[in-house]
Amino acid sequence: MERKWWKEGTVYQIYPRSFADSNGDGIGDIPGIISKLEYLKNLGIDIIWLSPVYKSPNDDNGYDISDYQDIMDEFGTMQDWDTLLAEMHARGMKLIMDLVVNHSSDEHRWFVESRKSKDNPYRDYYIWRPGGEGNCEPNNWESCFSGSAWQHDEQTNEYFLHLFSKKQPDLNWENPKVRQEVYDMMTWWLDKGIDGFRMDVINMISKVEGMPSAPPQEGRKYVWGGEYFMNGPRIHDYLREMNEKVLSRYDIMTVGETPGVTPEEAANYVHEDRHELNMLFQFELMDIDSGNGKWDVRPYKLTDLKRILSKWQYGLGHGKGWNSLYMNNHDQPRMVSRFGDDRTFRLESAKMLGTLLHTQQGTPYVYQGEEIGMTNVKFESIDQYQDIETLNMYHEKVNQQGADPAKVMESIYIKGRDNARTPMQWDDSPNAGFTTGTPWLQVNPNYTEINAKQAVSDPNSIYNYYKRLIQTRKNNLVLIYGEFDELLKDSETFYVYTRTLGDERALIVLNFTKTDQTFELPSDVTYNGFELLISNYDVDPTQDIRTFTTRPYEARVYRLK
Ligand code: NOJ
Repeated sequence: MERKWWKEGTVYQIYPRSFADSNGDGIGDIPGIISKLEYLKNLGIDIIWLSPVYKSPNDDNGYDISDYQDIMDEFGTMQDWDTLLAEMHARGMKLIMDLVVNHSSDEHRWFVESRKSKDNPYRDYYIWRPGGEGNCEPNNWESCFSGSAWQHDEQTNEYFLHLFSKKQPDLNWENPKVRQEVYDMMTWWLDKGIDGFRMDVINMISKVEGMPSAPPQEGRKYVWGGEYFMNGPRIHDYLREMNEKVLSRYDIMTVGETPGVTPEEAANYVHEDRHELNMLFQFELMDIDSGNGKWDVRPYKLTDLKRILSKWQYGLGHGKGWNSLYMNNHDQPRMVSRFGDDRTFRLESAKMLGTLLHTQQGTPYVYQGEEIGMTNVKFESIDQYQDIETLNMYHEKVNQQGADPAKVMESIYIKGRDNARTPMQWDDSPNAGFTTGTPWLQVNPNYTEINAKQAVSDPNSIYNYYKRLIQTRKNNLVLIYGEFDELLKDSETFYVYTRTLGDERALIVLNFTKTDQTFELPSDVTYNGFELLISNYDVDPTQDIRTFTTRPYEARVYRLK
């Protein structure tokens, strides 16, 4: 397997609005990020993925871009951004920018023009259709943010498509001029020196011809039409063209956000011979507890979780591609609350999950606050929430369908995106040291205990464990490139696997329960000796590994000799 910097590095995702506010307006900004680079460098981060910092009316916190080549006022200036890049490069860190080109903002000048008239030169930059029969929407697709995916526009009496909010019209990728605009814009950023892109819902840019309605579902006016726009008919043509015209000319990394892909489909995006992307964010683990949509929360077993993770390890392993390893981001609940225990065993379970992420094959992504074990939040009132997805869903369910508000709030506590967006907890001063003003979203009240200042100074903290974990991965190529093999597949207690690279082998044992558990290594795994690489508890490194007792959420990584 070919060695690459983006396979060996650890990525840290910054959601700028919630990271660090330097000027007291309650909104995180670029100078705030610059002031925290040493904190990230000290953690061992090599790559930062910055969620969008472009000009935006913030209907969806920057994922609605009105100018791709300018910086959002609240975040600072282009000069601040130039300083950020220079400061990062001076520290040997790489910068990945978010590329949001399935849609723009309706305030982008292309759309302002496009909606003016049917013969405007920008009309075909977006997807316009006349109304369907009975003067309704052109089809029955549901938007990801509730309601119809079509918005009627008075001016020309047509509808435009928006798979997300109505302030996020979908760009028309069929139009070669749109593609060229995007490639030119990407080239402009790459020539400024950035090191790659995270591509927002990139597998949605090609829609099925004719855009037919999805099969109707009883009791629903609008229906999820994913099969008509996810991994659409021309997606690979577009990505190959993008690769040829832009990506292949630079030493960069790319990671595509691709809901709904299987490992087989994923290989078509990331196999080295395909010349498209380097990595994907797939959603199978994120959907593990979803029933009829994400808000319908279902229980699952450890074997379900293992089946999904191992499937991707085998699916993209053995030279078929490369995984991205993540358990949370700005759209998902907090990892420790969702997959661990954010009360009694917060430290232990956060470290155990971190061990999992840093010992599978792929590039690990740490989401801001994960390294200090930040947790989900429970605001009392819906008015304290800011996220458009959450608010639209609440409005639809409670106000239109008459659902029980308490039940809807319960699902928001478990799945809402604002769980991940409460401000970064820097210290125990008011507003967690995030801002001297009023934060745009309230801080999680647990900041007096959970904060970066405490974590940096405490040798037993999650932060200091992550630091060792990142270093351990760097020092042991077997943890980066080694082939994955799962053991004890049917265990509802342990997740156990080995990694093998030539004659190097590592053994990873993770106790996923809240109780002591006896581990027995299968007898066909043989070894002459072993070395403890890292563990989240004190362990006697000479203790034999054939069988041993693990404590709640214990994680151990051994090198086998
Ligand atoms: C995925 C992004 O991560 C999410 O935050 C955003 O709302 C949608 N794409 C639309 O851009």
